[in-house]
Amino acid sequence: MKIFEVKAKSASYPIYINDSFEGLSEAFEKAGLFGRKALIICDSNTERLYLDILKEILGDNFLSVCHTSFPAGEKSKTLETIYDFYKVMTENRLDRKSVVIALGGGVVGDMAGFAAATYMRGIKYVQIPTTLLSQVDSSVGGKTGVDFMGGKNLIGAFYQPEFVFMNTKTLYTLPEREFSAGMAEVIKYGYIIDRGYLDMLFRNKTEIKELRTSAISDVLYGACKAKAYVVSEDEKETGLREILNFGHTFGHAVESLLGFRLLHGECVSIGMMAALALCRERGSVSDEDYKAAEGLMRFFGLPVDVRGLGAEEIHSRMFMDKKTKNNIITLVLLKGIGEAYSDSSVGSDEIDRAILKITGE
Ligand SMILES: NC(=O)c1ccc[n+]([C@@H]2O[C@H](COP(=O)([O-])OP(=O)(O)OC[C@H]3O[C@@H](n4cnc5c(N)ncnc54)[C@H](O)[C@@H]3O)[C@@H](O)[C@H]2O)c1
Ligand SMILES: [Zn+2]
Repeated sequence: MKIFEVKAKSASYPIYINDSFEGLSEAFEKAGLFGRKALIICDSNTERLYLDILKEILGDNFLSVCHTSFPAGEKSKTLETIYDFYKVMTENRLDRKSVVIALGGGVVGDMAGFAAATYMRGIKYVQIPTTLLSQVDSSVGGKTGVDFMGGKNLIGAFYQPEFVFMNTKTLYTLPEREFSAGMAEVIKYGYIIDRGYLDMLFRNKTEIKELRTSAISDVLYGACKAKAYVVSEDEKETGLREILNFGHTFGHAVESLLGFRLLHGECVSIGMMAALALCRERGSVSDEDYKAAEGLMRFFGLPVDVRGLGAEEIHSRMFMDKKTKNNIITLVLLKGIGEAYSDSSVGSDEIDRAILKITGE
């Protein structure tokens, strides 16, 4: 088992990475959570796959264990679902000492965290992320929330868990496409912060794709370290955290235009290719590195272009992004591989040429 300590200003907590659920019970005990009422929040898939196992592990160490679940998918990420959680919490008389356990992907984690942050002005919660995306991204950093009136994550709170426990074997049941989508965020960390990590991804790509335990645990450990570093430097997103948006300004535009036919990670992959094309034009990324990136995305089954979308529509959609302030686009670019910065002075024509690379017009 690997243990990584996240040190955020508001709290610090451990991330456990193991190839089974062994050590989970001890993690609860160590966090002082035994003897309390526990509510497991899962979705329809993680309920079917992991709820019984988790309940068995929790055993009779808790005063009571109840659960609630909702239909899997982003569509459920609403205040209505949170309302249902509050009802279950109240009916089961959860009190200030109770603990919420998020068992699932980012949708479960974001909502369980938000419910925990707001029920009785905040009760403790634990994350057991079961998708690659939630293991490398959403479970670290303390962002919680729901979508509202078409706005993604419009209502939410920053709220840190007591601990995060990842069992790499949960990835065995994850649909391949969801795994690939998570890999886009994994690859992103390499480009923005850590060339050594990126080299490791290239070197171990086959083992990673085959879900070999030690390769996967290296992936998770490095990703959590990268995200935790950024987040602890900038917990409330005022500066450094921006670099996590590498590929995302292009990616979000594609994501909203395609009516969510593509997964977020797939759009990020396309977006990173646009950002890398821009860097290549500026000379900060070599032709060789650009081609290698493309090969890596493809290897993990990620799209690298969007045929069928017009460059113009992507361009104007980028300017509608909520992160575009006063018509100035801030793009995350690379000084070199493993070194990102925010640039607010990117020319419109430069952006267009980068978009043309992904639309292939
Ligand atoms: N809080 C943050 O910082 C942050 C960061 C990135 C993304 N997010 C949020 O995360 C969400 C996306 O997360 P996600 O990609 O994990 O989506 P998700 O939670 O919807 O999971 C994807 C699918 O995989 C299923 N699933 C989960 N674990 C499984 C397993 N082990 N085996 C089989 N199926 C499994 C789920 O039921 C779902 O159908 C979005 O709502 C996004 O806004 C939050
Ligand atoms: Zn993302």
